[in-house]
Amino acid sequence: MRYLILSDLHSNDEALTAVLRRVKRKTFDRVVCLGDFVGYAADPNKVLDRFRKLRRTTISIRGNHDKVVAGVEEGLLFNPPALEAVRWTVERLSKQNMEFLRKLPLGPEIVDGRFVVCHGSPLDEDAYIFSDFDASLNFVQMNRFAEGIDLCFFGHSHIPSIFTLEPGDLIYTGTPPGVGIARKPPVFLKDGDVVEVEIEGLGLLRNSVAREK
Ligand SMILES: [Fe+2]
Repeated sequence: MRYLILSDLHSNDEALTAVLRRVKRKTFDRVVCLGDFVGYAADPNKVLDRFRKLRRTTISIRGNHDKVVAGVEEGLLFNPPALEAVRWTVERLSKQNMEFLRKLPLGPEIVDGRFVVCHGSPLDEDAYIFSDFDASLNFVQMNRFAEGIDLCFFGHSHIPSIFTLEPGDLIYTGTPPGVGIARKPPVFLKDGDVVEVEIEGLGLLRNSVAREK
């Protein structure tokens, strides 16, 4: 199975047309869109008509702009140009396209049991993944909504980027309950202690504690 994955079309028909022209000779079975069909650019109906008429099976989730145009949210955090684009789009959108936006599901969604799709991040459709740190917050939660799936596609940031979790990478998850300083009496690491961390799928990490010389 091959997928064409699109995101943040933002009413830009020239861009969508260029992408579809580019993949014309490639084989793919399904088209996945990670949300934000509308907003910013000037062709919301053309983009939505073109997408809805694609001859492949499509899988879509909603983006923050789709949500506000569809009246699901008010867009209180939108900047003035984005809000103006929403108002402009609402006045021009066809009934069918408005209905399409209203029915878009909230991500994350599992596609064919193979991967997850979300708009901003799998934990929050409105959040951005810009950095390794942002990604790490999601890595630690992936199993919560997609057990056994280790691939997630996201949009929203408008920055093409890939974040990977490699064996040996450390994720800082904050202070867990039972931390030594809160115990009575407090427990601190001391010279000669050995700290072992077992991570499923990675194995055992062992570190010896030594007094600084
Ligand atoms: Fe977005």
